[in-house]
Amino acid sequence: MTKAYLLNKTEQNVSGEVVELPFGDLPPEKLEVAVLYSSFNYKDAMVVRGIGGLVKNYPHVPGIDLVGTVLNSTDDKFHPGDKIIATGWHLGERFWGGFSTRANINPEFAIALPSNISPRTAMALGTAGLSAMLAVMALEKNGLRSNHDLPVLVTGATGGVGSVATLLLSKLGYAVVASTGKTNEVKYLEALGAKEIIDRNELLEPSARPLEKQSWSAAIDSVGGATLSHVISRLALGGSVACVGLVGGTQFSSSIYPLLLRGVNILGIDSATVPNSTRILAWDRLASLDLAVPLEKISRIAGLDEISTLTETILAGKQKGRIIVDPNLG
Ligand SMILES: NC(=O)c1ccc[n+]([C@@H]2O[C@H](COP(=O)([O-])OP(=O)(O)OC[C@H]3O[C@@H](n4cnc5c(N)ncnc54)[C@H](OP(=O)(O)O)[C@@H]3O)[C@@H](O)[C@H]2O)c1
Repeated sequence: MTKAYLLNKTEQNVSGEVVELPFGDLPPEKLEVAVLYSSFNYKDAMVVRGIGGLVKNYPHVPGIDLVGTVLNSTDDKFHPGDKIIATGWHLGERFWGGFSTRANINPEFAIALPSNISPRTAMALGTAGLSAMLAVMALEKNGLRSNHDLPVLVTGATGGVGSVATLLLSKLGYAVVASTGKTNEVKYLEALGAKEIIDRNELLEPSARPLEKQSWSAAIDSVGGATLSHVISRLALGGSVACVGLVGGTQFSSSIYPLLLRGVNILGIDSATVPNSTRILAWDRLASLDLAVPLEKISRIAGLDEISTLTETILAGKQKGRIIVDPNLG
């Protein structure tokens, strides 16, 4: 039997519960994995609450991330005993995901877990960490440099993506300005390396002019909406914003002037379908950065029985740091 968090849909709502399922109920796939950990991301909360039509078929096991040990494989790339990591590729949305002690997945969704990162650290990063690294890599490709006079802005800084982005940028030598709605979390953000903390309300102000005073060399934005509009008007010459999230809204507007007169770049980040070759580069870089200790401080382990509470917290914008989900707990 496998223990799993199973969602069902009625005409009224989507509801979930922890259940025991016979292995035969799992979808047949080439890779059978004993799940060590999953993690909890904003998208998991959307899936659990049935927001955005991400899941087409029920019953459904959520969990967009997993790390585990291969039990059986009919694919040449993987063998029993291999440690793998799988994130995105619509895992936990179109396909059953990681909130389960056992998962059968398409081998194309998996890459080898780098040897120098533990399964727990990998899930303290999860999709949030991968996205933060992809954002850093995209900014670097577009000219980000640590000796710039102006700092890098991170929005939604106490959240999953924001916390890891703040940590990564600081580790890599960038000066970080962290924008947050949790102004009592100054110490938390300083411990991640933020040099300055600003109230996120400042970024909700509509810009009076298309080009405001240049404030940041680049930005990693988890918020979108009016925040993104504001950020674009204050980026430095040649600056870029890596757009990761939408917690503050799905629409934004901007004058074309920042793009034409400052060469500002708006970079989309899609961690779910980024090619495996890029994922491997990103995970190798994450693994090389010695993040286990700081990640331990900003993450905690939760069991499947906490999924409902975690969903409320993250959708209310109250998430701080990262949640590792241990399906084997309890
Ligand atoms: N593109 C991708 O591949 C990708 C990958 C991962 C995540 N995402 C997206 O990125 C976003 C963040 O994900 P996450 O897992 O980091 O979520 P999270 O842990 O909930 O973090 C979001 C943070 O944003 C801030 N926030 C929340 N509501 C807000 C609002 N209404 N206005 C402004 N700020 C608000 C809060 O931080 P403060 O209190 O510090 O402001 C919150 O902690 C989500 O939209 C998610 O879907 C996209």
